Amino acid sequence: MANASTVILGTGAYAPARVLTNDELSHTVETSDEWIRTRTGIRERRIAAPGEHTSDMGVKAARAALADARLTPADIDLLVVATITPDLPMPAVACIIQQKLGLRTDVACFDLNAACSGFIYALDVACALLVSGRYRHALIVGGEKLSSIVDWQDRTTCVLFGDGAGAVVLGLSDRPGIGLLGTKLGACGDSVDLLCITHGGSSQPATPESIAARGHTIKMKGKEVFKLAVRAMDEAARDILEQHGLRADQIALVIPHQANLRIIEAISEYLELPMDRFFVNVDRYGNTSAASIPIALDEARRAGRIQPGDLTLLVAFGAGLTYASALIRW
Ligand code: ACO
Repeated sequence: MANASTVILGTGAYAPARVLTNDELSHTVETSDEWIRTRTGIRERRIAAPGEHTSDMGVKAARAALADARLTPADIDLLVVATITPDLPMPAVACIIQQKLGLRTDVACFDLNAACSGFIYALDVACALLVSGRYRHALIVGGEKLSSIVDWQDRTTCVLFGDGAGAVVLGLSDRPGIGLLGTKLGACGDSVDLLCITHGGSSQPATPESIAARGHTIKMKGKEVFKLAVRAMDEAARDILEQHGLRADQIALVIPHQANLRIIEAISEYLELPMDRFFVNVDRYGNTSAASIPIALDEARRAGRIQPGDLTLLVAFGAGLTYASALIRW
């Protein structure tokens, strides 16, 4: 298997039907459509229905990716779910998705938490396992129900996030020079406190007091995260281009993590690559963390923005702070 490359055989995405607009949010917290649009580029986000879980959204995205790959659940040997909002603290939501999708019981199933960089981390792990020769087809799901961990009374965070899922099916190819060409992953663990949920883990288990203080919701130092995000994404993009001896203008499409339009515009400026080379859907979904890149990838493919032979750059940052980039030749 040493010369095999890993290729994306299919993509899929799912977004819940419920659209929450900026105007609606302005009735519950002190904000406005104008503030949210100008500071973030977000116009609306999707919110899961009551009783609709990360696993349900992940299953719908996975079914679409399997159909696109013309494969069935029986073909999958490995399932990796990137998420920070599994249905339950344990077991892994991958096992719940396995059961709902009807995957075989000899399939390796696990969750991976690298926040908004999670999809690229999962891509790297799954590709390495495929290349090892022990698996033939991998399913990667990036799924989030961030509405369940957002503090709906905190205007500085609640306007940013949304729910959804994306998925890809990976397989092996013996055609050289196509598929996942490389990845760059990293983390700045000294910045954990910039973006975290302080309670509900093993260091601070949930108590009535922590619940009353909304300690189980996202806390973020937005300005610091913004600055680090721009730096980390710019470096991750440059590193991978340099690794492969490429210039930014050889990239047909960049699919960045969709957190904030201003972050994407800053990357566009730093890389000296025009915004029409960047796929943007943050206006319609907000930040869906690990689901953001696979949803965007699926939309970009279905919109004809990715053609055979194209080079696509994925780049992300997230809580941790983690960062990641990946280069794909189609
Ligand atoms: N509506 C109106 N006013 C607001 C809102 C709001 N929704 N939110 C904040 N403000 C106010 C602030 O209180 C502040 O008021 P003050 O000056 O009176 O104190 C003012 O607007 C400016 O606030 P800033 O925080 O300075 O605004 P900024 O321009 O930095 O934008 C934002 C804030 C959008 C959060 C930005 O910092 C950002 O996008 N940061 C990155 C966040 C991010 O991408 N996080 C995702 C990580 S992904 C993951 O892993 C889950």
